[in-house]
Amino acid sequence: MIQGALFDLDGVIADTSVYHFQAWRALIQTNFHKKLPDELEQRTKGVSRADSLQAILDFLQIDVPQKQFEQLMIEKNQLYLQSLEQLQPKDTLPGIVALLEALQAQKIKIALASASRNAPTILAKLQLTDYFAAIADPAQVQAGKPAPDIFLAAAQGIAVAPKDCIGIEDSIAGIQAINAAQAFSVGVGSAQELGAADLLVDDTSQLKLDIIQTQFAKHIQ
Ligand code: BG6
Ligand code: MG
Repeated sequence: MIQGALFDLDGVIADTSVYHFQAWRALIQTNFHKKLPDELEQRTKGVSRADSLQAILDFLQIDVPQKQFEQLMIEKNQLYLQSLEQLQPKDTLPGIVALLEALQAQKIKIALASASRNAPTILAKLQLTDYFAAIADPAQVQAGKPAPDIFLAAAQGIAVAPKDCIGIEDSIAGIQAINAAQAFSVGVGSAQELGAADLLVDDTSQLKLDIIQTQFAKHIQ
């Protein structure tokens, strides 16, 4: 029986992962006059702000002093926050509110396991905060996704063993993190990228609790 549901946010609850990459692109264009290739979008998905910037600079083979690194992170976040200004409840991805309602109806506890420090602001803008019994704080965990830490913290926040939880993710790093936490991983995206997920759906409108429960039951047999 599923007792807890651990949600990623960007790309699962709202389509904000595209805004993250747009902000990185604009930052790199302005500061270094370089265009980031599409492939870096998936490589930075689910990955913390600092780890994403490091991956981008490594890719571009650019070395910056610590002070500039921190300045770049601030600038990226300012660009990202600008794109969130218009975010409204109607921007919640299809099927998410229905899934949250279904989980709540079955008394399955809900927690957020997002790498984003902006997650509480986004949940508030979407008017979804009340569904969440716990929001794991990415600033308090040792290692970011693909390490399991944020999912373990989210499960702990609702006092449910990770093996009794499902985790929902749209990124490669996120699915790796759920699997490492030994929860049941539900991927939203393509088999090419998220083949390691225990259950895969094409998009959030296909996140149906009865289907997830059936697959979860088979998995633990
Ligand atoms: C993840 C996003 O949810 O949060 C990443 O997929 C992002 O792209 C990470 O880097 C950290 O987000 P923030 O809002 O703290 O910069
Ligand atoms: Mg995501």
